[in-house]
Amino acid sequence: MSSTVTLNGIELPLLTGDPNTWLRSSLVSVHQITTDGLRILFDRASVLQQNNVSSSTAFDLDPKTLVATVFYEASTRTACSFQAAAVKLGAQFMHVDSNHSSTTKGETLSDTIQCLACYADAIVLRHPTTGSMYSVLQQQRINKPLINAGDGIAEHPTQALLDVYTIQKERSGKGMDETMTLLCLGDLKHGRTVHSLVQLLATTAESVVWSKGLTIKYCAPKGLEIPDHVVHAIQEKNLKVVQEHYEDLDVALKNSPGKVILYVTRIQRERFPSETAFEAVKGSYVVDAKLLKQYNETIEMVLHPLPRVDEIATDVDEDPRAAYFRQMQNGLYVRMGILSLILAKAKATS
Ligand code: NCD
Repeated sequence: MSSTVTLNGIELPLLTGDPNTWLRSSLVSVHQITTDGLRILFDRASVLQQNNVSSSTAFDLDPKTLVATVFYEASTRTACSFQAAAVKLGAQFMHVDSNHSSTTKGETLSDTIQCLACYADAIVLRHPTTGSMYSVLQQQRINKPLINAGDGIAEHPTQALLDVYTIQKERSGKGMDETMTLLCLGDLKHGRTVHSLVQLLATTAESVVWSKGLTIKYCAPKGLEIPDHVVHAIQEKNLKVVQEHYEDLDVALKNSPGKVILYVTRIQRERFPSETAFEAVKGSYVVDAKLLKQYNETIEMVLHPLPRVDEIATDVDEDPRAAYFRQMQNGLYVRMGILSLILAKAKATS
């Protein structure tokens, strides 16, 4: 089996159960992650979670390790959890906010990243332009690992990793007796977290989250449907994954014989061409306590990458099935796991 995958013309390493495949590697897409790669990462995240990130572990980094978080779009959870992860592993971070960098003087993204690669040991990048990660990687002089923290509307692989970790944790003890349904709701056109999640789950659900099969339901307002290329990428793999499309949430839920994991996303106002276009779809869906009661037997868990706006009412927060705050917390452990694998002090010996 090839140990690399070529995406957008760039050859990237597959990240497997061998920790050396992660060492100094860039993490740009979920297509790099194998099932064993997911297992090694989740085992680490679990150890770090049990340790309550309070004391040193074998996964600690060299204290001189420096992680740059470079954000050209707003972020609370992703930026802060990467920064916290670096610090909790004994390393350090520097944050670059594009509003206060030489970007404002007209510097290109590649030049900025090349500069930061001179100082930091890894670069965590978020950028609004789809494909930015690949254009940065084309620049041969950037010789430090690049971690995709949100590539336009394309992918957000570390969010998908923490989403699948959360599903695994929340389902632990539930057994493999059912086919799992993941119902993705909201702005599926612009929702990069969904694009990464469905592709990661499609390849790993059976062995990682103990599901016998997977049905993915996409429920979106007209015009905000899941892009065809995401659906086709899953179809092409010939997996036992069923994909269905809905506009009406009730219909999507009524057509679900088994348990449903509801993955809610916000309508991404900043990505609309005009305020009028946004107003037309704003508030399309609201998940509230009444809906959870009505589908008490169906909805097993509610996830959301956050931030939420109005698509999940606060009356859902106290329901034990509301897993989105635990999901947010898990982001720290999973990102600690990612940094500890990519920036480990030395090669692992078997
Ligand atoms: C998401 C993102 O940035 O894509 N947020 C996150 O990273 N947790 C989702 C969003 O902004 O709606």
